[in-house]
Amino acid sequence: MAASSSSAPSHSPLLLVVAVAVAAVALAALPLAAAGDGNGVYDPCSDARIQRGDGFSFGIAFASAAAFYSGSVQLSPCDRRLGLPSSGQLAVFRPKVDEISLLTINTTTGFNPASAGGYMVAFAGRKYAARSIPTFVSNSSFTVSSFTLVLEFNKGRLQNLHWKKDGCGACSKSSSLVCIGKQTCAFRTQSCKSQGPVDCSIGIQLAFSGTDKHESVLNSWYEVSNLRQYSLYGLYSNLKDTLSGQFNKFF
Ligand SMILES: *[C@@H]1O[C@H](CO)[C@@H](O)[C@H](O)[C@H]1NC(C)=O
Ligand SMILES: *[C@@H]1O[C@H](CO)[C@@H](O)[C@H](O)[C@H]1NC(C)=O
Repeated sequence: MAASSSSAPSHSPLLLVVAVAVAAVALAALPLAAAGDGNGVYDPCSDARIQRGDGFSFGIAFASAAAFYSGSVQLSPCDRRLGLPSSGQLAVFRPKVDEISLLTINTTTGFNPASAGGYMVAFAGRKYAARSIPTFVSNSSFTVSSFTLVLEFNKGRLQNLHWKKDGCGACSKSSSLVCIGKQTCAFRTQSCKSQGPVDCSIGIQLAFSGTDKHESVLNSWYEVSNLRQYSLYGLYSNLKDTLSGQFNKFF
């Protein structure tokens, strides 16, 4: 279905843009958004108020966990006080509000999350800046490739971004997966391309909760939590070729 990507605006404090792609899969059980994209805000460092069916731009910054802090305070990656221009890498996505989407970042063709610092933060907004906590992606021992991110809105303004721990239930699916911190499946980094056979590209399953600017309830998170017992990856697997096709133009 819809596939889109956009690059960092020139006045973004972050310099590098990694390969991004967004793929939305409409599930038969989900209500389809009737309205088109009425959100004219494309810069993830600007404030937007959304309604269901709009596109919504947000960023994911990769750096070391410490790079997201100034003293003990975690700042938005949009904040120029952080030293991210020299060290961070940025991916920008524009999924459709209240559609379940799988975002992918291909890590086999040049971008290495461990060398970028190993952690990522999802963020959007300036005056109403929201950011997730830094979540571990990769170091020389372990690489986490599967994430669930919930974007929570209140009356159309982004309030919060939460990483949901998927648990270790799926670790038995592959002999390359190990359980770290008792709550996350990870690959051994040696088994990931280019060192090993496994494509450890990052997949972020996205969902929305809260209310839009007309106070309509966003319920794709409710759908994801119900569907999580099944593998959503099967639904997306036919998109793989399309996605890697798009990545080619970034490298
Ligand atoms: C890699 O990350 C894991 C999980 O966060 C941690 O337990 C381990 O100590 C780290 N290893 C290195 C070499 O940094
Ligand atoms: C990443 O890119 C490589 C090379 O283009 C491709 O073979 C692979 O399928 C891609 N991985 C994903 C998850 O799209």
